[in-house]
Amino acid sequence: MEIDQFFKGFSKLQRDQRFERLLAMGALSKADIDYLKAGGVHDLALADNFIENSIGYFQLPLGVATNFKIDGVNRVIPMAVEETSIIAAASKTARWVNQCGSINTETEGETIIGQIQIARVANFQALEELLSENKTQWMAQVNEQVAASMVKRGGGVEDIQLRKVQGVDDHDMAVFHVLFNPCDAMGANMINQVCEYLKGPIEALSGEKVTMCILSNLVDSKLTVARIEMEGVDPEMGEKIQEASIFAESDPYRAATNNKGVLNGIDPILIATGNDWRAVEAGIHAYACRDGQYRSITKWRYSNNKLTGIFRAPLIVGTVGGVTSLHPTARLCLDMLNVESANGLARICASVGLVQNLGALKALTTVGIIEGHMKLHIKNLTLGVGANEAEARPLQKKLEQLLAAKKRISHSDAWQILQALRGQAATAPQETSPI
Ligand code: HMG
Repeated sequence: MEIDQFFKGFSKLQRDQRFERLLAMGALSKADIDYLKAGGVHDLALADNFIENSIGYFQLPLGVATNFKIDGVNRVIPMAVEETSIIAAASKTARWVNQCGSINTETEGETIIGQIQIARVANFQALEELLSENKTQWMAQVNEQVAASMVKRGGGVEDIQLRKVQGVDDHDMAVFHVLFNPCDAMGANMINQVCEYLKGPIEALSGEKVTMCILSNLVDSKLTVARIEMEGVDPEMGEKIQEASIFAESDPYRAATNNKGVLNGIDPILIATGNDWRAVEAGIHAYACRDGQYRSITKWRYSNNKLTGIFRAPLIVGTVGGVTSLHPTARLCLDMLNVESANGLARICASVGLVQNLGALKALTTVGIIEGHMKLHIKNLTLGVGANEAEARPLQKKLEQLLAAKKRISHSDAWQILQALRGQAATAPQETSPI
C-alpha cells in the first residue's frame, strides 16, 4: 500500500488506534507498544551509566512524522520534540512531496576529521617532509594498534594531511587532519584515540610539541545531500518559495531562522535515536558560513514548472555504539526507522530537514506561520491558563473562533475567555459549585 494511503487520517486517530496502525505496518511490535504505554525508560541505574550525578530522566514527547518516502522506501519517522506543529508540518508536507515528486539522497565522502595541533611549529616545511615520508607507515600503525575493529568493517584511517594556520605572536601553527572512516559509528571516541596515538610518533620524529588532539565537527569531507523535485506546483507558489530561499541564501538574519526551521526536522530524530545533536548543530552552522557569511543550508529553485530543493551539509550520526545501542527508546526508534547504516540515518535526517523547510516556506509565503502553528498551540494555551478538563474543550473552541476571526491569539486572550467561561458558569442558576 502507498504510504499516504496507510497514513490517511492518522493525525485524527486516538492514540490506541495510532498504535494499531503502526503495529499493522510493522513499525512497532506489541512489546514496543507496551513499553511506550508504560512511559518508556525508567531505569535509574542505566541513567548512571549515561551521565554523572544522575537523578532521573527528562521525558520529551515522542511522535511520528508520517507519509515519508525517501529513495523509494517508506519510512516512519520518530521525532522527540517539545514544539507544536513540527510533526504536523513535516507529515503534511511529506504527503505533498509524494503527490508531486520525490526525495532522493546521497552521501558525498566517507571520512570524518580529527585534528592534531602544534600551536608553535618550529619548522613547518620539515613537518611536511616528515609526513610525506611517514604517512603510509603511521596509517598502517594506527590502523593496526587503535582502529583494527574499524578496518575489519571496511573503515579506519584513510589519509593524513597537514595545514598551516595563523598562530599567535607571528608563530605559524601546524594542524594535522586525520581522515577516518568510522563505518556505522559516529566515531568521536575512535577518532580522538587515533589522534592521541599519532601524537607519539609525530613528537618523537619531529621534536615538535603537540598542543592538543580532538575531532572537528566541521566535517566537510563527508556531506549528506537530500534533493526534492516536484512538478505541478502552482507557479506563484513556486516563485515565492524560490524568493524565500534567495532571502535565506543572501541574508544571515533570515538564514539563521531558515536553518532553525531545517533543524526542526533534524534534531528531533537525532534525539529520538540517541545521537549527539550538539555535534550535528555545530557542524551544520559552521558549514553554513564556510565562505565567510552565514547562509542557508537549503536552496530552492522554480523553473520550467519544476520546484527543486537541495540540502547539503555535514550530518555525522551513528547507528551503533554509545547511547544509540544502550538507550531502549533510541533502539526502538532506530528499529522503527528500519535503517541499515549511519549514512542511511543521516540521509533520512537530511530529507526530513528539507521537507520541514519546505513546509515552513510554504506556510510563510502563503497564509503565514501563525495560523497553523497557533491552531495546534491552542491546547498548550488552555493548559497554560489552568483550564480544567471540563473547561478545556469550550475554551479551545472559543480560541479557534477568535484565531479564525483575528488571525492571532495570545495567552491573555485564553485567560480572559477562561475567566468569562468561569463567570458564566458561576452565574448560571442550574450549575452546581465546582467545590
Ligand atoms: P492543516 O492543513 O490545517 O492540517 O495544516 P489538516 O488538519 O488539514 O491536516 C492535513 C495533514 O497535516 C494531516 O493529514 C497530517 O499529515 C498533518 P492526516 O493525518 O489528517 O491525513 N497534520 C497533523 N499531523 C499530526 N497532528 C496534527 C496534525 N494536523 C495536521 N495535529 C499545519 C496544519 C500545522 C500542518 C500547517 O498549517 C503547516 O504546515 N504549518 C507550518 C507549521 C510549521 O512549519 N511549523 C514549524 C515550527 S515554526 C518554526 O519554528 C520555524 C520557522 O521559523 C522556520 C522558518 O522561518 O523558515 C517557521
